Amino acid sequence: QESDADRTHKPEFVVVVGICPHLGCVPLPDAGDFGGFFCPCHGSHYDTSGRIRLGPAPLNLEVPPYKFTEGYNIVVG
Ligand code: FES
Repeated sequence: QESDADRTHKPEFVVVVGICPHLGCVPLPDAGDFGGFFCPCHGSHYDTSGRIRLGPAPLNLEVPPYKFTEGYNIVVG
C-alpha cells in the first residue's frame, strides 16, 4: 500500500497513467466505489490516488515520472 505522499508531488493533484494494469482498458475518472477511477472492462475500482481497492487489477495505476515546473505546469516523462 502506497501512501498519498508516495504517489503525489502536490497533494491536491494526482498524475497517473490512464491504463488499467489488468488488461489495458482505460479507467473512467471520478467513478467507482471509492470515488477515484473505475475500469468498466472487468470492474476494477481505484481510489482517488489510483490505488487498486477492488477488482481484478493486480497493481495500482502507474505514477509516471513527472515534475512541476512553474506553478501548476507539469512535465511528464
Ligand atoms: Fe481493467 Fe480488466 S482491464 S479491470
